[in-house]
Amino acid sequence: MEHQKINIEYDVYDSIDQLAKEDADLLRTAYKATDISYAPYSQFHVGAAAILANGQTVVGSNQENASYPVGICAERVLLSTASSVHPKVPILTMAISYRNAEGKSNKPIPPCGMCRQTLVEYESLLKHPIRLILGGMEGKIYVINGAQSLLPFTFSGDDMK
Ligand code: THU
Repeated sequence: MEHQKINIEYDVYDSIDQLAKEDADLLRTAYKATDISYAPYSQFHVGAAAILANGQTVVGSNQENASYPVGICAERVLLSTASSVHPKVPILTMAISYRNAEGKSNKPIPPCGMCRQTLVEYESLLKHPIRLILGGMEGKIYVINGAQSLLPFTFSGDDMK
């Protein structure tokens, strides 16, 4: 028997003001995208913004539905948009922000499991890690150098070979 351990690394910033300007701007763009979220059921508005290798910025926001499972998270809206508008262009960095029903936006929110799976598929398709910036407009900010580390034991196309 052998015991294995997986560690993940990430950087923690005390506030948005500590980020490099480009990263702070991207996080603010993600927050602004909460304005175009459609979240009448949860009142939890998520916004995402990404910088692509061609210099373009793409945004996404969560889009809910009266049939709850039909709703789509902000991250996957962004990935589908990026893939449609800028096919085969790697995503360098994605920022994810939010505001809740009380208007609070003061902690990092991690992408859900389904979004992690989709992010990792995008990374492997374009052979480029997607750096993640997670944070609200107040509070700590997490920066993670690639979505893969958030999903150990990813199921991938290779597993079906
Ligand atoms: N949501 C996202 O947009 N991204 C995530 O990674 C977590 C959850 C959305 C889905 C739903 O519209 C709302 O937040 C509450 O779960």
